[in-house]
Amino acid sequence: MKPRLIVTRRVPAAVLQRIQTDFDAVVTETEMGQEETLSFARSHRADALFLSGRFKLDAATIAALPDHVRIAATCAVGFDNIDVAAAKARGLIVTNAPEVLTDCTADLAFTLILNACRRAAEYNAIMQQGWRRQFGLDEYLGVRASGKTLGIVGMGRIGRAVAKRARGFDMTVLYADVAELPPDLSQGAKFFADFRDMLPHCDILTLHAPGGPACDRMMNAETFALLPKGAVFVNAARGGLVDEDALIDAVRSGHLFGAGLDVFRKEPDFDERLKDLPNVFLTPHMASGTIETRTAMGMRALDNIARVLAGQQAIDPLWV
Ligand code: GLV
Repeated sequence: MKPRLIVTRRVPAAVLQRIQTDFDAVVTETEMGQEETLSFARSHRADALFLSGRFKLDAATIAALPDHVRIAATCAVGFDNIDVAAAKARGLIVTNAPEVLTDCTADLAFTLILNACRRAAEYNAIMQQGWRRQFGLDEYLGVRASGKTLGIVGMGRIGRAVAKRARGFDMTVLYADVAELPPDLSQGAKFFADFRDMLPHCDILTLHAPGGPACDRMMNAETFALLPKGAVFVNAARGGLVDEDALIDAVRSGHLFGAGLDVFRKEPDFDERLKDLPNVFLTPHMASGTIETRTAMGMRALDNIARVLAGQQAIDPLWV
């Protein structure tokens, strides 16, 4: 008998094919919420749940899970959507999918950096409207990205992949994290134990810290003010890291030259004041959104599920 699985979000074709071959699965056409997932978990006698970062696996949902559900695998790297303490207490195995999305997330962070520095959203809007007039040499100027000082908050796998790209752009790389990295990982980047001490030195700031209460609104009116005037701000990590009122004020006042954002406090119904700021480049939480990476993320979640249901150790358990 094939293991029974509930898949709570649409997945790429190759992942779906494996699900249909290897599992007895309930697959959603769109996205399943908590109630629907619980109901399918019961009626289908599920052994496992396949989740994405959008599924809130909170204490109440975990408490309501039938006993036969042994593993919940998220295909995301972030797990701020999961109540880890409640899962542990229930004996539910939870896995994430690190590594497979590192490069594409770093690529998108760099897309945001370059687009915000070079006013790509404004240029694209000008072209969409038909260009019509030649600009003076002093009009619509961006800021240079190459050679600038880049501050990275959170020098984990993704932060380090961004640093690697930055070195190709001759940037000076600074980073802030809970602990200093060994030289083979920091590759010459300068460490700050308190990210606030780093901010005044950053031409460009990019966030790669985890979501959750510890870092909630770490970028707020006070910390945006610590950036030099004309800095560029990028977030491809979690929307919760940012006080969006303070961000909007910092852009409107001209304190920030521009921003690039892939994540928002509320998704998908984000604060639409952001889209009215011409020098803010926006993407809809798509940092991992390539065919290759979304496929690899799905496969990684399935690998974790298959191993656990075969009585083996998961590849990416959130705890051991
Ligand atoms: C995406 O946001 C992830 O955490 O993988």
